[in-house]
Formats: sequence, C-alpha cells, structure tokens
Amino acid sequence: MNNLCHLLSIDYPISQAGMVWVSGGKLAAASAEAGILGVIGAGSMKPELLAHHIAKARALTAHPERLAVNVPLLYEKTKEQLELSIAAGIRTVITSAGSPKTYTSWLKAQGCTVIHVTSSPLLAKKCEDAGCDAVIAEGFEAGGHNGREEITTLALVPQVVDAVKIPVIAAGGIGDGRGIAAVMCLGAAGAQLGTRFVATVESSAHENFKQAILSSGPGSTMLMMKSLVPVRLYKNKFYEDVKRLEEQGAGPADLEALLGHGRAKKGMLDGDLVEGEIEIGQISALVRDIPSVRDLVARLMREQRAALPASGRFF
Ligand SMILES: Cc1cc2nc3c(=O)[nH]c(=O)nc-3n(C[C@H](O)[C@H](O)[C@H](O)COP(=O)(O)O)c2cc1C
Repeated sequence: MNNLCHLLSIDYPISQAGMVWVSGGKLAAASAEAGILGVIGAGSMKPELLAHHIAKARALTAHPERLAVNVPLLYEKTKEQLELSIAAGIRTVITSAGSPKTYTSWLKAQGCTVIHVTSSPLLAKKCEDAGCDAVIAEGFEAGGHNGREEITTLALVPQVVDAVKIPVIAAGGIGDGRGIAAVMCLGAAGAQLGTRFVATVESSAHENFKQAILSSGPGSTMLMMKSLVPVRLYKNKFYEDVKRLEEQGAGPADLEALLGHGRAKKGMLDGDLVEGEIEIGQISALVRDIPSVRDLVARLMREQRAALPASGRFF
C-alpha cells in the first residue's frame, strides 16, 4: 500500500483540495465515498457553518476517517475552527497560509494527522521540523492563494521531495490522470486536485462558476495581489479592477479596500462573475465537463494507469 494511502486511510493517493465556498460537506463526503481524501475548506467560515459542513459530510459517508478540514491560518477564528473540527471527529487537518509552527504540535497532541501547504522547499523543511506528517507542495499554476516565489509544480515537487523525508503531495496544474502519473514520477506520494473538482456535480460552486471553468482557455487566469496575499484569479471585471489598481502602484491597504468583505463568496458561491472574486488554476483550460466525483475518480485512475507502462505503475 502506498504510504500516503496508509497515513490517510484512503484507497487512492489523491486529495480533493480544500477550497473555500466550493468544498463543503457534500463534496468532501462524495470524495471520501470514492476512496480519496475529502477536504472541507473552512476558509473564513463562521465556526457554526463549519460545524454544519462537518456534520453533513459525516452523515453522507460511511468513511468519516477519510474526511479532513483545510484551515488557512489567516483568520481570527482559526483556533475555534480547529477546536470544533476535532470535537466533531475530524482527525486530518490541513493548514495553509501561515507558519507550520503555530498549531502543529498542539494538533499532534490532540491525535491529528497534520499536513501543511508549502510553495518552497525551505518551508517544506520547516513543516517537517514542526512535526507535520506530510506536506502539500503547491506550484504557481494552482488556483487560489499561492506562494510569492512563483515556483512551478514541475520545478517545486522534486525539490521538496529532496528536502524532506515525509510524504509529499503535489498540487497545482493537475487536471487528469496523466498529471497524477507525472507528479508521482517526480517522487510525490500523491496528488491534490482543486480546479478539477470545482467542476463536479457535488461541488458547491455556483453553476456560473462551473460554466466559467468550462469556457476558460489558456491564459484565462493570472496571479494577482502579490503585495497583499497572492491569489490566482479568473480574468473577470474584478480582476481588471485589481490590475488597474496595481498598475497605478497600489499597496496592500488599497487592495484590501477594493477586496472588501465577502468578494470570494459573492463570486464562487453566489455566482457573480462580474464583481466577485473567482479563484481558479491554469488547468481550467483542460476541464471540459462536470462529472460526478465517483465518475471523475474512476476516470483519473484509468488515465493514470494508461499513462504508465504496467511495470512502472504506482497503484
Ligand atoms: C476555488 C478555490 C478555492 C481554494 N481555496 C483554498 C483554501 O481555502 N485554502 C487552501 O489552502 N487552498 C485553497 N485553494 C487551493 C487548493 O487547495 C489546491 O491546492 C489548488 O487548487 C491546487 O491547484 P489546482 O487548482 O491547479 O488543482 C483553493 C483553490 C481553488 C481553485
């Protein structure tokens, strides 16, 4: 058995990424049922809403051990989100957008498996030193928040694999089984897919957002707001507003004022493709349908096997 599958009690070494306003209880449960890690994206959710999604996911799957929460260490309610997740029976926690030192020892003491998201080999080593069980090496292509270093997945994964002894999950720009096979050839123990899972039946992304992914092409996204929190955005009016402001030399405070509150929810959950913030990765150009999670995972497995000679298959 692949060491990552063993660590996370999953059948296939794949993580359905934690995505704010997209990966709620329904998507996470469908992923757990399909044999992969089902991650609820806590984002800036109020603790009560996060508790609701965890309860929903647990009610919809016979495999609660395959559920995880993704908690970006950016918001004031982080500790509360973590505490309630553990109280609700979550045993795998993925932290991002902060230092792995902040919560890893405490989470380990609560009996959790801890994974931290990294965009550099240096930070990956810090994750290992902090006691993380695995790292997610997320490259420049990825949707959502990103590193400032702009290291692509192809360059990042082997560097992280060489830097640490713990399992490395590759993320960023993986949209089909060929991508999964490729990152495993680079030494990753598994793959995390975000953008691909936005366009699934069970994702809570608004239909407009799903359709935007289907009609996107090469060059439809750009990494923006590097002076505040770097994020890869879909090129809509909100993106144009950010671009104009940045060209005028805007600093973090100006960007924060433009962003305001609730932009991501407005775009990704409520479907406002004009004023909303839409986070997607470069691989959206490869996504052309909206399958169920079950069908998607079966297809990913077929594709990754077909991409490798029988003697070189990983699983
Ligand atoms: C819509 C969307 C929302 C995301 N939200 C989060 C988040 O809340 N926390 C986080 O750590 N990463 C977030 N990400 C990044 C994903 O967890 C994942 O690492 C990334 O999507 C992988 O790259 P890909 O989109 O090319 O598959 C988000 C990505 C997307 C597309």
